[in-house]
Amino acid sequence: MSNTVHTLSEAALNAAAAVSENRLWRSIEAMAEIGGLGKGGVTRQALTREDIAARAMLIGWARALGLEVSIDEAANLFLRRPGQDSAAAPVLAGSHMDSQPAGGRFDGIYGVLAAFETMNALDDAGIVTRRPIDVVAWTNEEGGRFERGCTGSSVWAGQVPLAAFLDDVGSDGARFADALAETLAATPDLPRRPPRWPAYAYVEPHIEQGPVLEKQGLDIAAVTGIQGVRWMRVEIAGVAGHAGTTPAAWRRDALQAAVRAITWLNGLMEDPRDLTRFTVGRLLVEPNSPNTIPSKVTFTIDFRHPDAAELKRRGSAIERVIHEAVKPCTATVVTTSEMSPTPFEGPIPSLIETAAAALGLKVARLASGAFHDALYAAAVCPAGMLFIPCRNGVSHSPEEYSTPAQCAAGARVLAASVVELANRA
Ligand code: GLV
Ligand code: MN
Ligand code: MN
Repeated sequence: MSNTVHTLSEAALNAAAAVSENRLWRSIEAMAEIGGLGKGGVTRQALTREDIAARAMLIGWARALGLEVSIDEAANLFLRRPGQDSAAAPVLAGSHMDSQPAGGRFDGIYGVLAAFETMNALDDAGIVTRRPIDVVAWTNEEGGRFERGCTGSSVWAGQVPLAAFLDDVGSDGARFADALAETLAATPDLPRRPPRWPAYAYVEPHIEQGPVLEKQGLDIAAVTGIQGVRWMRVEIAGVAGHAGTTPAAWRRDALQAAVRAITWLNGLMEDPRDLTRFTVGRLLVEPNSPNTIPSKVTFTIDFRHPDAAELKRRGSAIERVIHEAVKPCTATVVTTSEMSPTPFEGPIPSLIETAAAALGLKVARLASGAFHDALYAAAVCPAGMLFIPCRNGVSHSPEEYSTPAQCAAGARVLAASVVELANRA
C-alpha cells in the first residue's frame, strides 16, 4: 500500500457528499435512548441488557440496508457491504458500542454510527467499491464492567486468547463467560465468523476526548498513534477491629495503608513534562462500616505514558512503592492489562489528512491519550483513527457532546477515506 495520496477520487468525494448530517444525528439520538440517563449520558456497559438492545437495533438497521451481519466468538459484530471482488480483504471501519458506567452519548458508538452512515451514503451515491467494507462493533472496549478493555479487538487480532477473559468477574459480580454467552444467545441466527481473518485496513472515528481540537479551532485530527497503558489491581490486607477500642499500635488498617500507597504513588508519578497519566479510579473498602477498621481495600491503577521505556521503568517501581507504603499491612499487586504504545504506521494518517483537507476541513496530527480498538487492529493491518472535537474536551461523562455538524464532518472524512481504501488493488 503506498503511503501518499494527494487528491481524492471522484467516488470518495461523492461518498462524502452523500453523508447525511440529519440521518447520522438521528441514529446517535436513537442509540442514546438505550440506557439513557436523565442527565444526557448513557449507561450501556459491555454485555449488559442495554448492550444487547443496542446491538439488536444496529442489526435491524443493517438488515434493512441489506448488509450481511455476522458475529464472532468474542461477540464482535460485523456488518458487511459486499464489494466487486468478494475474495479481496475488506476495509474495516467502526469502534465500540459499550459505554462507561455513567458515560456519554458519543464515546465509541459515534464511530460505529459514522461507519454505518458511510454505508448509507455509499448506497445513496450508488457506489460499489472493489473491496468489501465491514462496519465493526467491538466488544468491551471500555473495561468499565469487566476490568480489561479492548477485549473484542484483542481477541480478533489474535493478541489475547478469548480464554484469558472468561473467568473475569465484572463490577456487578457477573462472570465474563456468562455475560458473553447471554449476548451470543440473543442472536442465535447470526453466522459465526472465525477470529483472525485478513483485513486490508482499519479506520476508527472517535470523539477526541480531550480539548486540543476545540481549543485550536480544528475540525479533524489525523491520529498518529496511541500511548501505552498499564492497568493494575492492588489488594491490601489489614485486620478488622473495633473502631472505638483498638489502640493505634495494634491497628492494621487497610484503608489508611491504601491512602499512604496512593500518596506515595502520586510522588512517584510526578512529571515536570506532564506526560505521565496516573489514575486510581476504583476503590473498594471492606467491610465498609463506619465503626469497623477496614480489613481489605482493593483499588485499581490506570497508568499511561507515550514512551515504552518510561512505562516499564515507573511501572516496575509501582509495586515496590506499594509494598513499602502499606506496612504493617500487606499487598498483592497484579497487572491486569498492558498495551504498548502503538504508532499508526502506514498510509492512513496521511489519507485522513488529505481527505479532510480536500473536504475543506481544518485538520492536524494528534496522538491519542486514550486507548482504542485501533491499537489491536494495528497488529493485523494498517490502521488509523480520526478524531472530531468534543465540548470542553470532556469524555467518560454524561456531559460528553459533539455537535451534529462536527459528527457529520467526521463521517464525511471517514466515507472518503474508506472509499479510497476499498477501491485500492
Ligand atoms: C478508553 O476508554 C480509555 O480509557 O482510554
Ligand atoms: Mn472509546
Ligand atoms: Mn472510553
